[in-house]
Amino acid sequence: MSSHSELTAVVEAVVDPRLFRPLGQLGMVRTVEGHRRSVAVVLAVPSGGHPDEDALRRAVEEAVGRVSGSPVELDLVPMERDEELELQARLHELGSPGGQGAGAPAERHGAEGPAPRPSPFAAKGSPTRVVAIGSGKGGVGKSSVTVNLAVTLARLGRSVALLDADVYGFSVPSMLGITERPSLLGDLLLPPVAWGVRCISMGFFVPDDQAVIWRGPMLHKALEQFLVDVHWGSPDYLLIDLPPGTGDVSLSIAQFVPTAELVVVTTPQPAAERVAQRAGLLARQLRLPLRGVVENMSWFTGDDDHRYELFGSGGGAALAKSLGVALLCQVPFVPAMREGGDWGRPIAATEPGSETGRAFADLAARLVEMGPSRVYRSELSVR
Ligand SMILES: Nc1ncnc2c1ncn2[C@@H]1O[C@H](COP(=O)(O)OP(=O)(O)OP(=O)(O)O)[C@@H](O)[C@H]1O
Ligand SMILES: [Mg+2]
Repeated sequence: MSSHSELTAVVEAVVDPRLFRPLGQLGMVRTVEGHRRSVAVVLAVPSGGHPDEDALRRAVEEAVGRVSGSPVELDLVPMERDEELELQARLHELGSPGGQGAGAPAERHGAEGPAPRPSPFAAKGSPTRVVAIGSGKGGVGKSSVTVNLAVTLARLGRSVALLDADVYGFSVPSMLGITERPSLLGDLLLPPVAWGVRCISMGFFVPDDQAVIWRGPMLHKALEQFLVDVHWGSPDYLLIDLPPGTGDVSLSIAQFVPTAELVVVTTPQPAAERVAQRAGLLARQLRLPLRGVVENMSWFTGDDDHRYELFGSGGGAALAKSLGVALLCQVPFVPAMREGGDWGRPIAATEPGSETGRAFADLAARLVEMGPSRVYRSELSVR
């Protein structure tokens, strides 16, 4: 049996599956006692309940089991009011690199109301690499690529967040199979997590049968809230699923997160001059560094092992060439990818060894390998 201090250190080091920080740092560990046949742990959780008790239990049991081999008797007790306020303050502080992120109050007021609050992702020293996924036209598989890339990065051990910025045509929650809504801790929104990916989408905030009609300023405000008021927990990666083409949403995102990099998704049709123009326009308008092109639906491999190019070929390579960037990856057309999207079971998570799973592993590896873009466009940051 390990010593008391050893066991306490182990429990304190467990990363909360929804608050994304070690329990010790969050002030959640009340007591840890090693008994002869078990380890008794008492954790203080937010008074409204922990957003994912099961995952919290599993994480503690696994960590304690690893060092002591003993089962855990875990008790979750509600925090006192002052403990909870302290937890909120700590999360604000931890979510704001350089002390200017989520916790900073909007103090400056301009002629048009309060000045935008800075996104923690735009702060210098932010540990998060932000990659926005866009396209010159709709329906090319942007959301599918974003979701599968996100779960692949998570499988590689990276902490990954996904912002579904397609506010009118949101599809990420259903592709990830999320039915749960974000929970609230004080004024912070805690994102649901699926397949290791924390996610926020407009889909969580509008009833299923209602069309979203937002005016520009409201839309801008909503995106600001998604970036500032969500407890993202400083992930390694934030992927942003942009709506198709250039528009207010993409421009707002680029303004809030000027440190973002851009990846463009396209299909293999060769005669896509207009698509190339639009993708180039997207990069120029957003003024974000374009890192490469992903070609989706490149071929279908038949039972005879032959690759059928259902939608032509060469589109991805041609677009990459005309934009002066690399073709990062070709993703085959597979019915299982659509089915996985429809059922909330991303193929990169359920069949990582398949041809498609390997394509996403390659894409993730390329992105990791090429490293973040060094361009920091301070002139574009929201002040
Ligand atoms: N490689 C693929 N193989 C098979 N089906 C795919 C593939 N990629 C995407 N799909 C399917 O094509 C459809 C469109 O994909 P998706 O929604 O990802 O595109 P999008 O570019 O995000 O669309 P939008 O412009 O509407 O946001 C979905 O039904 C998806 O499951
Ligand atoms: Mg989409």
